[in-house]
Amino acid sequence: MIKIAPSILSADFANLQRDVELVDRAGVDALHIDIMDGQFVPNLSFGMSMVAALRPVTSLPLDCHLMIVEPERFVQQFAQAGADLIGVHVESTHHIYHVLQLIRQAGAKAEVVVNPGTPISQIVDLLPLVDQVLVMTVNPGFGGQHFLTPMLKKIQALEQLKQQGGYDFDIEVDGGINEKTAKLCYDAGATVAVAGSYIYDSPEPEQRIQDLKVATN
Ligand code: DX5
Ligand code: ZN
Repeated sequence: MIKIAPSILSADFANLQRDVELVDRAGVDALHIDIMDGQFVPNLSFGMSMVAALRPVTSLPLDCHLMIVEPERFVQQFAQAGADLIGVHVESTHHIYHVLQLIRQAGAKAEVVVNPGTPISQIVDLLPLVDQVLVMTVNPGFGGQHFLTPMLKKIQALEQLKQQGGYDFDIEVDGGINEKTAKLCYDAGATVAVAGSYIYDSPEPEQRIQDLKVATN
């Protein structure tokens, strides 16, 4: 069964605590928090104060996806705010190796993220340094986009490298995830699925969480 990390980007911000507790009760594995700076991606969301505000609301691991330029400026503050895992895009910094080291030094799990246009070959040397790899399955910046099917090959390639190297990092997918695409990703080797609009735009979010579990069982 795939692990599920609902993205609060599609939650009701005026009722965020309610929406976090709802998925928590339904049985998910982490909470995905999308941080956008309007520069790395063409959208703005929220910062570390959101992570600090949610920390007392749930005991779920907080999975923070940083879509910001030069994330090295902020990773320590995200860890202090309560992030359990911090994801940084390989495209967002000249010093990805250093940033991943900083994340672990700050006591959080480290994740490297690849955009749809970035080949896995660019992160091969980083694999020993990470707890999770996030393969973007849409162009980052917005919820509610369509899944990019060519990314399945990338997940398969990563899964092969994982086996060859004897690594145990998780493979996360993010963007356009529903019960069909979750199954395709799971079969390709993904172990964690982020889902935003599929869960929160539904009148029955708990049912959607169940559907993701059943589809990957
Ligand atoms: C997009 C974000 C995603 C987004 C996914 O940049 O990284 O986490 O919330 O939304 P859906 O599941 O609606 O594609
Ligand atoms: Zn995300």
